[in-house]
Amino acid sequence: MIKEVKANYAEENSILADPVYDRQGKMIYPPGTAVTIFNRTQMYMEGVETIRVYPRMLDYQKQEIIRPEIQEKLSAQMRQLVRIRGTDSDANQEFKIYEVRAMMTSVVEDFLKEEAVMEKLANMRTAYEYLYQHSVGVMINAMLLGTSLGISKTQLKSLGRAAIFHDIGMLFIPLEIMEKQRLSKDEYQIIKSHPLKSYLFLKDNANLDQSILRAILEHHERWDGSGYPNEKEGDKIDENAQIIGLADTFDSMINERPYRKAYSVSEVHEFIMSQAGTQFNPKLVKEFIRNINPYPINTLVEMNDGSSAVVIKTNTPYHTRPVIKAVNGPLRGKHINLLEKRSFTIIKTLKDPGDHI
Ligand SMILES: [Fe+2]
Repeated sequence: MIKEVKANYAEENSILADPVYDRQGKMIYPPGTAVTIFNRTQMYMEGVETIRVYPRMLDYQKQEIIRPEIQEKLSAQMRQLVRIRGTDSDANQEFKIYEVRAMMTSVVEDFLKEEAVMEKLANMRTAYEYLYQHSVGVMINAMLLGTSLGISKTQLKSLGRAAIFHDIGMLFIPLEIMEKQRLSKDEYQIIKSHPLKSYLFLKDNANLDQSILRAILEHHERWDGSGYPNEKEGDKIDENAQIIGLADTFDSMINERPYRKAYSVSEVHEFIMSQAGTQFNPKLVKEFIRNINPYPINTLVEMNDGSSAVVIKTNTPYHTRPVIKAVNGPLRGKHINLLEKRSFTIIKTLKDPGDHI
């Protein structure tokens, strides 16, 4: 699908597969940039002879690929949320889920109608699938957290836009560095430049409010001041940036990376809880973990007596004490309500319900 072409003859709106550098070796266009008459001339002037490009994505393809993918991810996440919060007994909570769904769908639909947003998403997906999937995942988790925190619809709109573009600066980082397990000091500095790169790229190439750009710039700042680029602390960090930081950590950990396996939901749950007051705002952590059930129905778990069990019913909001069915050991086949049998605890997840056997 990738074609090598002469830079000054590249078809307009075809998409760069590799970064393009100027004579000084500075990257002037990241992969995912659409070719225009302007940048084609610029490349020619910089002595770039050939470039590798993907064919242009047509408008109808953007509509037909990007929109259904986002909607699908959105509804998958919503199903998980219904399973978490709406189960068992609380009919009111279930009602709230429909409100959340309607609100999120309308915000997402709104910005999918914007040509410029669709364009950038389509290019990002063409150049780097993982980055696109991650951005959609972060957007959905950030918006769920924003909704359950009760932020205004205006703030939610900004949050969605900031979340989907927060890592676009990663396109300026060489893939070898992005996918490396052990980074040298210099490589880590390069990774740390991505929020600023996202900010600068969007400031010049998209028409986004300053509040959205600020959330993007600050998404790696951490509550205790240990983040980057400006080591901001606590409430000095933009609220949307705090939300995105948490959603980003969650989405990165539950997905596999070239250098590590995916973590189970319970491990991520545990990690995020452990970072309340250090990496993350405790108020956000509290709300976020209320939305995540580390042991959804059909999770296979290991118990503290060494036996295995399957979760058959949740005890909302006591997510760590569901009803289980022992699959081996002396209690094999028995249903045990962990809210009643306190000495019996779950040690870890053996298999998430979504895992393939
Ligand atoms: Fe990031």
